[in-house]
Amino acid sequence: MYTSISDARLHDGQVISIAGWIYNSRSSGKLAFLIVRDGSAVMQCVVSKAEVTEEEFAIAKEITQESSLTVTGTVHADERAPGGYELIVQSLKLIQKAIDYPISPKEHGPDFLLDHRHLWMRSKRQHAILRVRHQTIRAMRNYFDSRGYIGFDSPMFTPNAVEGTTTLFGVEYFGSKVFLTQSGQLYGEAGAMAFGKVYVFGPVFRAEKSKTRKHLTEFWMLEPEVAFIDLDQNMDLIEDFLTEVVGQVLESAKEELKILERDVTSLERVQKPFPRITYDEAAKRLVGKTEFKYGDDFGAPDEEAVATQFDRPILIHRWPHEIKAFYMKRDEVNPALAKGVDCIAPDGYGEIVGGGERETSLEELEKRIAEHGLPKQPFEWYLDLRRYGSVPHSGFGLGLERTVSWLCGLQHVRETIPFPRMMYRVEP
Ligand code: 4AD
Ligand code: MG
Repeated sequence: MYTSISDARLHDGQVISIAGWIYNSRSSGKLAFLIVRDGSAVMQCVVSKAEVTEEEFAIAKEITQESSLTVTGTVHADERAPGGYELIVQSLKLIQKAIDYPISPKEHGPDFLLDHRHLWMRSKRQHAILRVRHQTIRAMRNYFDSRGYIGFDSPMFTPNAVEGTTTLFGVEYFGSKVFLTQSGQLYGEAGAMAFGKVYVFGPVFRAEKSKTRKHLTEFWMLEPEVAFIDLDQNMDLIEDFLTEVVGQVLESAKEELKILERDVTSLERVQKPFPRITYDEAAKRLVGKTEFKYGDDFGAPDEEAVATQFDRPILIHRWPHEIKAFYMKRDEVNPALAKGVDCIAPDGYGEIVGGGERETSLEELEKRIAEHGLPKQPFEWYLDLRRYGSVPHSGFGLGLERTVSWLCGLQHVRETIPFPRMMYRVEP
């Protein structure tokens, strides 16, 4: 068994073997310094001519970036070494010599790097980002798992349009046409009626012809759905959930956020309560600031103009029903409004969460499905949830990549997923 480099500190003074790839190397005279990465961390390995065979020293001197190898040596604490420990090499073995690794420390353009995404993710920043993604997923699941929620997987093939008909990917399905799901919500609602509280977590698909820094065509959404809670309780949940997830990531991904040079003070301000303002109040705050007209959905500049007026994520609730989905419950006081809520992240990251209270009445839903021009038949199963024990319920969907992009302080969501899918990219 090889020792994980991240565990090397547990073996100070002992002989260990590590296995990995060359991150960087240099040599001078009788010494070669190999920076080896194994995925867990990097370690400087010091090869001195006197300590190894002639053949081994020749390998160390000529080894190239990303060649694979195993190294055995003594762990030695050294403050100057990355990670605080280096390896005094006794022997090493080349596994495969990499010739002309395409990504060098020099600057590459984004298209070149995206074309080489399968290799790019080995580099320090990308590696850190994908680790933050992992820690974010862990924190999110942990939040719900420790509170009695059931993980509930929705299908990817579906006959239902959830979030409008303009962003559907159609798929030929044994002679009939189905879609790739835009959201697991409708199935999550069935889950909530069966289990009380559930969360759906999986990939969703949207044929959005947007080339912005916030849009992917395939992204991951986390969608809790809870029976017997209303919009206000749903906002309590969003706030509590985000506060805890951000706190956990700040702890578990400290090193990664440092590598990314993320200023964490704005993340440390993610504390309850979040400001809650209505769409109407938000609209007033936009007067004279953007092109926004009352009744419009919020574009990126509008979201940013409102969000910068606060020091933490904000919740905007009660939207004109025309710009929200068919399943949203109408506000009891003003039926022109839908009981939806968006959570807008600070620092220009925009909407990271969309959710709301669901319509419970069979008749109302039948009307909405018709108004939205949706075919009724594929929704019959969903309408059954209103026929048999309909109850108030609410939920939300968090876009994982937008959230990770915000946590990492990135320019674009494409770096937050191992293999991004965008309007002009489905490779590699
Ligand atoms: O606001 P949306 O469309 O909400 C829903 O789909 C609801 N059915 C969720 C629910 O209530 N269960 O999408 C939710 C979130 C957005 O706030 C955003 O963070 C993210 O998904 N999102 C995208 N992320 C990346 N690329 C895209 N094209 C996205 N579209 C939405
Ligand atoms: Mg939305």
